Formats: sequence, C-alpha cells, structure tokens
Amino acid sequence: MKHLIDPTDLSKEEIDQIVALAEDIIAHRERYQGSMAHKKLATLFYEPSTRTRLSFTAAMMELGGNVLGFSNPQNSSVSKGETVQDTVRVVGCFADIIAMRHPIEGAPLVATEVSRVPIINAGDGSHSHPTQTLTDLLTIKRELGHIDGITIGFCGDLRFGRTVHSLIKALSRYKDIKVVLIAPDELRLPDYIKQDVCDKMGVQYRETNSLDEAIPELDVLYMTRVQKERFLDEDEFDRVKDSFVLDARRMALAKPKMAVLHPLPRVNEILTEVDDDPRAAYFRQVENGKFVRMALIVSLMEWKNDPAHAMPEHEAPIHNPALHCTNPKCICNNEKHEPLFRHAENGITRCWYCDSKVR
Ligand code: CP
Repeated sequence: MKHLIDPTDLSKEEIDQIVALAEDIIAHRERYQGSMAHKKLATLFYEPSTRTRLSFTAAMMELGGNVLGFSNPQNSSVSKGETVQDTVRVVGCFADIIAMRHPIEGAPLVATEVSRVPIINAGDGSHSHPTQTLTDLLTIKRELGHIDGITIGFCGDLRFGRTVHSLIKALSRYKDIKVVLIAPDELRLPDYIKQDVCDKMGVQYRETNSLDEAIPELDVLYMTRVQKERFLDEDEFDRVKDSFVLDARRMALAKPKMAVLHPLPRVNEILTEVDDDPRAAYFRQVENGKFVRMALIVSLMEWKNDPAHAMPEHEAPIHNPALHCTNPKCICNNEKHEPLFRHAENGITRCWYCDSKVR
C-alpha cells in the first residue's frame, strides 16, 4: 500500500510527477472535476489546522469526492482512549484515503501498519510535514521556474519546524542545492537532519544567526514561526520568540527575484508591510497547497496497489529492549508500541518512529 508519511516515501520521480500533475490541474481544472466521484477522504486532525485541513477538504471537493472526519479529537472516541491504530482500522471502513495530523511523532507511521487505505501524514509533532513540502516545491517551481541550483535560507525555528525538516529532505535529492540555516543557538536544526540528510546526500549548508548577513545571497527565504506549542519550558520560548523579523528594510537587501515562503500561520516574524512586495509568495503558496493536494490524492489513489509505486525498502528495524527513545512526544512513549530503532549515520542509533536519539 502506498502511503505518504515522510518525503522519502516518494521517489524523486514521483515528487516531480505530483508537482507536474498539480501544474496540469492549475492549467486544466475542468479535466479533473469528478475524477474522485464516489470516493471519500477522511481528515483525522488531532491538532489544530487551517490550511492543511481546509485545503485537503477543498481539494477533494474540487475532485468531486466527499470528506468526513474530525478536527477536534475530543469530539471522537479518541477522548475515550481509542488508539491511533484502532481509529484508523475503523475509519478505513468508511473512507478510501486518510489524511492525519497528530501532535505525537510517529502516529501516522503506526497507522500505516494496520490501514487498508492510504495514509497521508498531514503533520506529526515536530517531525515531518510532507504535504507542506510538496506545496513548497510547487511554489518554488512556479516562482523561480526551477528547483535545481537554488540557495535557500531557512530562518527562525529550525528545531521544531517540521516543514523545514521535510523540505530539506526533499531538496537533498535535487542538484546543487545550497542551504543557509538562520537560527539562534536554541532553535538550530536537529542533528539527524544535518547528519542523515545534508551530510549523507552532500547538501552544502552553513549556519548563521544573522538574517542581514544571509539574505543577499538567497533565491528563496523560508521564514518560520517559533512554535510555542512545542516548548516544554516557557522561559526558553520567551527568550527566542522574537529572534527574526522580516521587514521592508531587510527585503531591500535581497535579490530582486528572491521568493519569500512561509508555511503559515505567521505571528510576528513577517511584518504586514512585506505582503505587497511581489516577492512575498506565502499567500500564493497557500493556494498551491490545494492544487498539490489534489494531485497527491489522485496519484495515491492510482498508485496505492501498483508495485511500480511500492513503498521504499528500509533496513529491518532493530528490536532491543535495552534501548529507549528519548522523545516524550514519540508514539512509542505514548501508546503501547514496541520501541524500534534504526542505524543512522556516524554509528548513531535512532528511534524508528521519530528519529530521536536513544539511551
Ligand atoms: N502550513 C500549515 O500546516 O498550516 P496549518 O497548521 O494551518 O495547517
């Protein structure tokens, strides 16, 4: 069964096919109306969302299909203690495809172990957000005309920003990508992305804490919100919450064709004075999200049982009761799932579900 839990579940060719299909949908919307008639998408959102849930809903409606689900787990049997796997077993009786957002990392992955319909990860904790990645890739392609060869700056909360982690994974498969990581020390990119993705795939990256210094060289500036809801310590959040603000003065330092992306919502990291700058692409990015999710739904429904689009093969997980995942927000520390591990770069062992270090 073809699912989308992590950007690496799609080959580079499959990503390019989805982006190309989204561009075709934009050019010929009428051709796709009715292509999902009598099909149902379930949106299981255990965490708040505006763009992702509503764009999935709009996408399925434009394709002629129907949508069911919940946006507040307290209104479902989750509030009675139903597990992720039981919920998915049940919803798979009613729906043809499921999009799930969950605050616990690895929850969509354990859903795939029992699901009879494709599962789409619509964001799991700080871990991964692959449909935002498809949105970002389509936006970069439409704004700049190409993805290969870009210099992209990621600015803000690179520690908890799941959209950043996923986009770097996807970009690592394109040619000549340069990454500038702009963050305070407390919000730096996790080691597993630097080591297992950038170092392994040969992506050039450097770290800085100065947006002014970095902005002149960028083709894309990817701003992010500091994710208050992920901090375990409120004082730490208060120290870093206003680290970077994009304003008209800083835009004046940038290339004339630089594209500003942001997965949104924003809080105060992009002033509204930037919104009318033609380089501000973040609201166009939102609309691209609907088209790319239309393309993803059509593709997964076509590929779900096609051996040519099988899930990538991984080394078998490590079973070792002496090891423990260090992440309190991992599914293996929140529901009864056997802790599993994988060998990562530099001899490090990481959690199978959330990529955290082990002890
Ligand atoms: N970009 C994004 O995931 O937005 P929502 O949280 O509103 O879905």
